[in-house]
Amino acid sequence: MTAVDDVPTTKGSDAAAAGSAPDTPPVPPAARRRLPRIAELRTVLRFRRPTLDPVERRLESALTIADLRRVAQRVTPRAVFDYVDGAADAEATARKNLAAFETTEFLPELLHSVVDPDISTTLLGDRIALPLVFAPTGYTRLMHEAGETAAARVAARVGIPYVLSTVGTSTIEEVTTAAPGGNNWFQLYLTNSEALNAELVERALQAGVRTIALTIDSAVGGRRLKDLRNGLTIPPSLTARTFLDMARYPSWWIDKLTTAPVEFASVRDFPGVSYSEVAGLLFDPGIDYDDLAWLRSRWPGNLLVKGIVNPEDARRVVAAGADGVVVSNHGGRQLDRSPATLDVLPAVREAVGESTTVLLDSGVRNGQDIIAAVALGADAVLVGRAYLYGLMAGGERGVDRAAEILRSEYQRALQLLGLDATAKIGPQHVLRSERASG
Ligand code: FNR
Ligand code: LAC
Repeated sequence: MTAVDDVPTTKGSDAAAAGSAPDTPPVPPAARRRLPRIAELRTVLRFRRPTLDPVERRLESALTIADLRRVAQRVTPRAVFDYVDGAADAEATARKNLAAFETTEFLPELLHSVVDPDISTTLLGDRIALPLVFAPTGYTRLMHEAGETAAARVAARVGIPYVLSTVGTSTIEEVTTAAPGGNNWFQLYLTNSEALNAELVERALQAGVRTIALTIDSAVGGRRLKDLRNGLTIPPSLTARTFLDMARYPSWWIDKLTTAPVEFASVRDFPGVSYSEVAGLLFDPGIDYDDLAWLRSRWPGNLLVKGIVNPEDARRVVAAGADGVVVSNHGGRQLDRSPATLDVLPAVREAVGESTTVLLDSGVRNGQDIIAAVALGADAVLVGRAYLYGLMAGGERGVDRAAEILRSEYQRALQLLGLDATAKIGPQHVLRSERASG
């Protein structure tokens, strides 16, 4: 290849070496042309062993979460990919979430040693590897059969919390068994069945869960136009077009046909309630502060309220007994036109004070985004789509890859900022340019 093509005629180099042109200085020995020696060539080119496993190959080639997203899109039926990737109505909030991060600039503080940085942090009394949590996501086994247990295992290996959704497709017990040493949390949707709510809380407690996140932004389901057009509804029913599209992804289908059915596993066995009834029970539009008080009186562990964008709501739920809030617009999947979470974060932090736990999600796609959120007042961030893209792209190994990408980006950005610890990140390290809010 190029190495061989580059070898000139020996005549030319010999003539130069012999100094036949009196005005030309002699070529130093190291620069003289000679035939390549294979052993030396190897040290320059460092041939890599070809990766034969196609999943491994596509994961290796993914350097960013955006790369994983592209792979996911290629290997997943459209209705499933759109369910993950899409958002509500015009998707304005989903776009704003990303724009808020992209327009946040960093102000480094240089000439400080950043050898061996400590990227860990403390969250609800636990030391975690970095300020990152895997968010609760419903239907996870629809994306890849490895599903929730894979995400929980990766989180446990990395040393970060994993949150199982009420509409997860694995049970609380399956997750805590698959990731026994993990920091496993449970996300609660309160239904209009108090008996079911009580059972879920009790099971979480029995399974060793120490933190519950009550999601309050879903009094009714958001209107996801892509899902409606694809015919992906709760309970699932597919249009003929979507069905045919799915047929183009045989490995995804084999996954689905040869593993346990995808269903709301934690609420599956609740006596007297059929699958479709359970779906109807979820997203209780009657949820209010009495429900929060009920949960607080039953749940002895940490209680977070997820889905806050209004600083006044943050103050009220903390006054009602929550230990912390998750500033979230559900990734733009519920109320479209909600503000970007990063934009409201400083006001929420101010409303609840320094000692209350404040998490943020919606739009985190890389390690720099984590820095921005921590600088503006978050104790940690949650990611939903970022790890789901990895899951779709390559099952558990894909989730591993997503976590590794976020971890290494976070560490590099921290070091380039001139900081050797998560604890040193502050508001002085970010510049928020004036953006048109549209
Ligand atoms: C979610 N999210 C979510 N939240 C929740 O409280 N319970 C749930 O069951 C689900 N289900 C769910 C499914 C899918 C496919 C996605 C993408 C998201 C919201 C999730 O917890 C989190 O708030 C967002 O995903 C954060 O935004 P990013 O990181 O996806 O941009
Ligand atoms: C969603 C629901 C499951 O965001 O919360 O799709």
